Amino acid sequence: MNSIRRIRFHRFGDADVMQSDVVEPSGPDAGQILVAVRAASVNPVDYKIRTGKYPAVKNDRLPYSPGRDVSGTVVSCGAQATRFKPGDEVFGIVDIHGGGYSEQVVLDERAVAPKPATLDHVHAAAIPLAGQTAWQGLFRHGGLQAGQSVLIHGGSGGVGHFAVQFAKARGARVLTTVSSDNVGFARSLGADEVIDYKTQRFEDVASELDMVFDLIDGETRERSWPLLKKGGNLVSTLTAPSQDKARQHGVRATRYTVEADGTELAEIATLVRHGAVRPHLQRSFPLASAAEAMAAVETGHTVGKIVLTVT
Ligand SMILES: NC(=O)c1ccc[n+]([C@@H]2O[C@H](COP(=O)([O-])OP(=O)(O)OC[C@H]3O[C@@H](n4cnc5c(N)ncnc54)[C@H](OP(=O)(O)O)[C@@H]3O)[C@@H](O)[C@H]2O)c1
Repeated sequence: MNSIRRIRFHRFGDADVMQSDVVEPSGPDAGQILVAVRAASVNPVDYKIRTGKYPAVKNDRLPYSPGRDVSGTVVSCGAQATRFKPGDEVFGIVDIHGGGYSEQVVLDERAVAPKPATLDHVHAAAIPLAGQTAWQGLFRHGGLQAGQSVLIHGGSGGVGHFAVQFAKARGARVLTTVSSDNVGFARSLGADEVIDYKTQRFEDVASELDMVFDLIDGETRERSWPLLKKGGNLVSTLTAPSQDKARQHGVRATRYTVEADGTELAEIATLVRHGAVRPHLQRSFPLASAAEAMAAVETGHTVGKIVLTVT
């Protein structure tokens, strides 16, 4: 069997725990496919896991290889994996066991969709986790519909820049908060109202909202409750919102974790192919510089996505 290179850490800690290991790739189980990774994106969850503070990954998972989404080429398919064949170009979410920062990784075939032909692997890898987080927050949990209004906090980041584009493509009115440097970027994504959170109070601009999509938490969330109309919806990717506060304001409030779904990813790929949505790449790094790439995401100031190029 061929050995492959995989970035791993053997203990939790700072960026210096990351190391490059040579390992034997595991074969795909029945419903899985083995993918030769061409590019892998870097998500905040990667550094949260690395620090040991992410509840679903504890000592029993060490050594751990980060990387929750990839784009690449199918190498082989498990006995019951029938959707793809070797040579197909695919992208998708890797399960919580990780492994995207590698030359090869296994994925559940139901988590995968054909890569949009209009994108290279580096741009395609930017989509699965951040894109599906945006999609599920807006539509599955937020129920956002055409003609409704949504305030997206953090519209310039990985999830936020997809959320702005998806909500616009659905026909919603989109307000978003970004820092001064990213006002032009958020406008280029199609946001109707771009609020510079460094110089403006979003309460002065937003009211009677159908939905708040909270990618920031803390005081940003607390200031958002009164801006929702009765029956509105606050959806967060971070801590669970207070149900008492939701009741006080007559709104619903949810926290969710993104789920892999290849069918939904194919729907997103269609929007990308038609030019309605485009991933924005801030920067790419080679796999060997994964620690540096992760440190860049850890600053919390990513514009769009940061991606590792693998082969
Ligand atoms: N629950 C889940 O399944 C799930 C899935 C994906 C992500 N997440 C979480 O969701 C959060 C967002 O993820 P991401 O990938 O989009 O992160 P990201 O790419 O690091 O983006 C963070 C963005 O937030 C902006 N920002 C920081 N402070 C802000 C403020 N006060 N108001 C408005 N914008 C602000 C930053 O821009 P400036 O610095 O320019 O302001 C940056 O663009 C992360 O905490 C991540 O862990 C959860």
